[in-house]
Amino acid sequence: MKKAFIKSYGCQMNVYDSGRMADVVAQHGYAETGTAEDADLVILNTCHIREKAAEKVYSELGRLRALKRERAEAGQDTTIVVAGCVAQAEGREIIRRAPVVDAVVGPGSYHRLPDLIRNAQARQKGVDAEFDQVEKFALLPKPDAARIRGRGISAFVTVQEGCDKFCSFCVVPYTRGAELSRPVAAILDETRALIEGGIREITLIGQNVNAYHGEGPDGAAWSLARLIRAVAEMPGIRRIRYTTSHPRDMAEDLLAAHAEVPALMPYLHLPVQAGSDRILKAMNRRHGADEYRRLVDRIRAARPDIALSSDFIVGFPGETEAEFEETVRLAAEIGFASSFSFKYSPRPGTPAAEIAAQLPDEVKDARLVRLQAQLEADRQAFNRATIGRVLDVLIEKAGRHPGQMTGKTPYLQQVQVNGCEAAPGDMVAVRITGTATNSLFAEPVDPGRTGAPLVAAA
Ligand code: SAH
Ligand code: SF4
Ligand code: F3S
Repeated sequence: MKKAFIKSYGCQMNVYDSGRMADVVAQHGYAETGTAEDADLVILNTCHIREKAAEKVYSELGRLRALKRERAEAGQDTTIVVAGCVAQAEGREIIRRAPVVDAVVGPGSYHRLPDLIRNAQARQKGVDAEFDQVEKFALLPKPDAARIRGRGISAFVTVQEGCDKFCSFCVVPYTRGAELSRPVAAILDETRALIEGGIREITLIGQNVNAYHGEGPDGAAWSLARLIRAVAEMPGIRRIRYTTSHPRDMAEDLLAAHAEVPALMPYLHLPVQAGSDRILKAMNRRHGADEYRRLVDRIRAARPDIALSSDFIVGFPGETEAEFEETVRLAAEIGFASSFSFKYSPRPGTPAAEIAAQLPDEVKDARLVRLQAQLEADRQAFNRATIGRVLDVLIEKAGRHPGQMTGKTPYLQQVQVNGCEAAPGDMVAVRITGTATNSLFAEPVDPGRTGAPLVAAA
């Protein structure tokens, strides 16, 4: 049997798409492999969000060039495909820069992957960066539940793709196109199959997931909250999460869902990017710092124990020292449970890249170090505050040590549970006993009682 190696860069959208591409090529006789060395087909599912991410692809292609040559000497053919957001942004330029590439396919065209591969193998290099009006997911084979189960007890389901927000720094509206919500029925069918296949946690994903407005079976546009309530009704589901949300789209009914739907986890990734009104305006985020603060107050009023996480950009063009300080202050005030922070990277074709006042790298470096010190202190404080609490853990797999199982709290913290006999997919009530840098330690509250669904967190 032929083998395919698919490597994902970037966000969860790519992780999900890679799974769907694995299903497409499986139908054409390719089994998945974990290394490029024994692969007849290599797909790089790329990310264009920052310059570093995009450049990674070219260094990987350099390695693949050597590998392809070695395999050719041994009489083996290797087809190399570049997919994802770099494919969409750069198209044919990729083949010009890296002739080792046989085909380039953008995120709107994965259903045409088999044709591209066949043509490539007939020595016709292809580039497909069209966006179909029809829903691409409807044209892809259904996700293979057994294969997904093999990857764990948790799965992503893309509900919405693309973005109409046009933040001035961001390439996503260009690489993923206009916002498109999948129909409710397609999402629920896929989710049901995943749960029947053993998945216990579903994360609904989209670049701007809370802008979801897919067509419901009743013909009306459903909100994300309504979709979440429908997923929560499915027998066998234990946890629901969603990401990534835009502050402008936190609708009232979504806050209500946080208050009322027990399966919806008290965790929200709500990127703020910056703490200065002037910078937020220049970023075209469409909200100010105080609006974000008030929104957080409303979210916490609906679900007092909710944990928040965010993304930050430091060194946006023209950002002054005082404006940067406002970002640190906002972060400290909110107290995020977890965060991602980045140095601003000018991206071709985005408005912010044209601003004259680009900052030197040293300034961005220094600001990143300072912001990360604050964010890390807040993360550790959040983790320490769970010591002594009783929390539900959804077990994922065996831990590092005998008798240990590992899983996640409602707040997405990784926990090592000692003396635990539960199986993957079980929910266990644990008492948090300590913290390390990247995980918590815990003991089952009632070691004799495993596998049953659970008590509410204390
Ligand atoms: N849709 C999500 C973001 C997707 S990109 C949202 O609106 O929040 C993920 C993160 O990458 C962004 O939140 C931002 O913090 C960061 N990012 C995007 N473009 C960037 C750029 N040009 N330079 C640095 N970081 C960037
Ligand atoms: Fe990019 Fe802004 Fe859209 Fe997020 S909301 S994907 S940051 S343009
Ligand atoms: Fe990267 Fe594309 Fe996701 S640019 S962050 S892979 S949407």
